[in-house]
Amino acid sequence: MKTFISISTLTITILIIWISSTTLQHSKNLVYDDEQEGLKDQIIIRFSHVVAENTPKGLAAQKFADLVQKKTNGKIKVEVYPNGILYPDGEEIDALIRGDIQMVAPTFTKMTEFVPEWKVLDLPFLFQNDEQVENVFTGSIGKELIEKLDEKHMKGMTFWSNGFKQMSSSKGPLITPADFKGQSFRVMPGEMIEKQFWLLHANPVAQPFNSVYHSLEIQELDGQENTISNIYSKGLYKVQDHLTLSNHGYLGYAVIMNSDFWRTLSASEQKQINSALAETSKWIQQESRNMNDAQLEEIKNSSSIQIHTLTKEQQKLWKDAFTPLYKSVEKEIGAEFLYKIQQASE
Ligand code: LMR
Repeated sequence: MKTFISISTLTITILIIWISSTTLQHSKNLVYDDEQEGLKDQIIIRFSHVVAENTPKGLAAQKFADLVQKKTNGKIKVEVYPNGILYPDGEEIDALIRGDIQMVAPTFTKMTEFVPEWKVLDLPFLFQNDEQVENVFTGSIGKELIEKLDEKHMKGMTFWSNGFKQMSSSKGPLITPADFKGQSFRVMPGEMIEKQFWLLHANPVAQPFNSVYHSLEIQELDGQENTISNIYSKGLYKVQDHLTLSNHGYLGYAVIMNSDFWRTLSASEQKQINSALAETSKWIQQESRNMNDAQLEEIKNSSSIQIHTLTKEQQKLWKDAFTPLYKSVEKEIGAEFLYKIQQASE
């Protein structure tokens, strides 16, 4: 009987040791998985934006999410909400500041309400080409603009590019400043952009991005300005008759996080996020150019919209019409700041 008890005890002990070591070995082989570990340790970044998924910003947001997943082995998960499904235009920055979401990437224009210095980036014809934009994004003036967001309880992370804006209308070709007279244009809410249309004797109407197609379709508005990828992805070219390749302004994004959330991350988590962002910024810089070029070809091939390219002389007429905007920026944020940004973009 005694021998039987000892054999049983020994067998049970061996069995327990075997089970524990197999379990330990198995758990060592597992990557972080929220279904096995539970959600308690996982960090979620909710990233809201207003454009379609197949746009430079939409694709960049997803690329960033994938990189973060990989770099943190799944510890940090970025959930991307496109097309304004979570928060529409005009609400996303407030939602970020409140901490309801952790990340957004609004256009420069949408930042101007919070940080007036950002108006400088909305000046028409400030940039002539992508290299100049890049110089500002990566130089000390770009750093200064990003740091200004910190004063407003936002953690400025980086810039993302989209591209140069073009003009369109259903009323007629937009070649000289006089062609704008009396027409109504959808604009992003921002002083510089609104003044730009007032100077052309047109009527700017601030509207959320996701209402533009409908307003143009029912001809509540005559025209709009945006990048080719935004015009293409929302089908705006289908409800417009004339497109002017004017490259008159630059549309880029401020990538921002909620500052309290940022502070809760460890130094190594912040490093992983910054590294994912650096990779994504480089990628979007090239990819946005490719998309704008390819989608312009798509528009040419698949629609009857009339495309006009401004000559140097016509561009000069537009520049002259916009001169007062430079004066007003100089007055509001200082000649020195304006000079510094002009220098940096040269
Ligand atoms: C807009 O026109 O509101 C867009 O430019 C939005 C965006 O984020 O690109």
